[in-house]
Amino acid sequence: MTILVTGCAGFIGWRTCSMLIAQGHRVVGIDNFNTYYDIRLKLWRAEELKKRDSFQLVEGDIENLGLLNYLFSNHHFDAVVNLAARAGVRYSMENPHVYLNSNADGTLNLLECMRKSDIKKLVLASTSSLYAGQEMPFLETLPVNQPISPYAASKKAAEVMSYTYHHLYGFDVSILRYFTVYGPAGRPDMSPLRFIKWIDEGTPITLYGDGSQSRDFTYVDDIARGTISALIDADYEIINLGGGNNPVSISRMITTFEELLGKKAVIDHQPFNKSDMMHTWANIDKAKKLLDWEPQIDFETGMQKTVEWYLENKNWISKLDV
Ligand SMILES: NC(=O)c1ccc[n+]([C@@H]2O[C@H](COP(=O)([O-])OP(=O)(O)OC[C@H]3O[C@@H](n4cnc5c(N)ncnc54)[C@H](O)[C@@H]3O)[C@@H](O)[C@H]2O)c1
Repeated sequence: MTILVTGCAGFIGWRTCSMLIAQGHRVVGIDNFNTYYDIRLKLWRAEELKKRDSFQLVEGDIENLGLLNYLFSNHHFDAVVNLAARAGVRYSMENPHVYLNSNADGTLNLLECMRKSDIKKLVLASTSSLYAGQEMPFLETLPVNQPISPYAASKKAAEVMSYTYHHLYGFDVSILRYFTVYGPAGRPDMSPLRFIKWIDEGTPITLYGDGSQSRDFTYVDDIARGTISALIDADYEIINLGGGNNPVSISRMITTFEELLGKKAVIDHQPFNKSDMMHTWANIDKAKKLLDWEPQIDFETGMQKTVEWYLENKNWISKLDV
């Protein structure tokens, strides 16, 4: 198949593209290389992908409908995997407009191009952030109508607009609600990579809250595998991709890094942020049933691989702004 992957230089996009290529697919990847976090990480991921013949990089923005029209008229895509998004929760309070523009309008642009080119299959990245305030473990059928951040609201908008295109035009849509993804070459705005770097350098860790908040951490290769599995005929399905076990507290994550690095963390406590969730925990029964998917990498193994990648790449990672 030829697949359009948006956000290909992003953390999940990069692993998803690598896996698609390894499975023999042709991938056209688009990314706008925005500077929300240090662009050197995106460039590194893109360079890794450009080594592969069956990968083509388009540097561009999914907000640019003219560019997308041109792209869709020059390629035949069998499916679109929309991972491009503004993805940080806290920054969405500072700059809500870019979140709606990229995450909601960008998705609408893709849906329109798909409609005009008669492409029916969409895999859309959504988020566990939508479950704020609900009972755990989070089930896909819970009502998620009270998003607590502009980020979550923008993802909800993308979900429901995709539903509209499913209803009106028979699109086949898999919506994936990811739960805290971590792994090698992860995002420097998320705690795993920045905490590893700070502990290693002896820089105080900025910790929002007391560390008892917990996350259902999911390793990036598991997420990429699940994303590719979601290319099946789904009709319209919302599916959680999460660790699915008891969530891990941020304090325990810090202890894990201390042990792996052999160094002690210095912690700078900051108040808990109102846009953050205290706990996340996925019910993954639906992913097991529909996608035959469950995580293969446990928390300890995944964090060890993440620290190993950091140590192997420290010569340039040490220069990153986190
Ligand atoms: N990482 C997680 O824990 C997590 C959890 C839930 C959901 N998600 C979702 O998964 C997807 C991928 O997240 P990620 O962690 O890889 O984030 P990321 O920021 O590393 O990747 C997103 C990529 O999209 C690109 N991008 C953003 N806006 C764009 C636009 N308008 N046009 C073209 N490219 C654009 C960025 O430059 C970036 O490379 C996002 O949709 C995110 O909301 C991620």
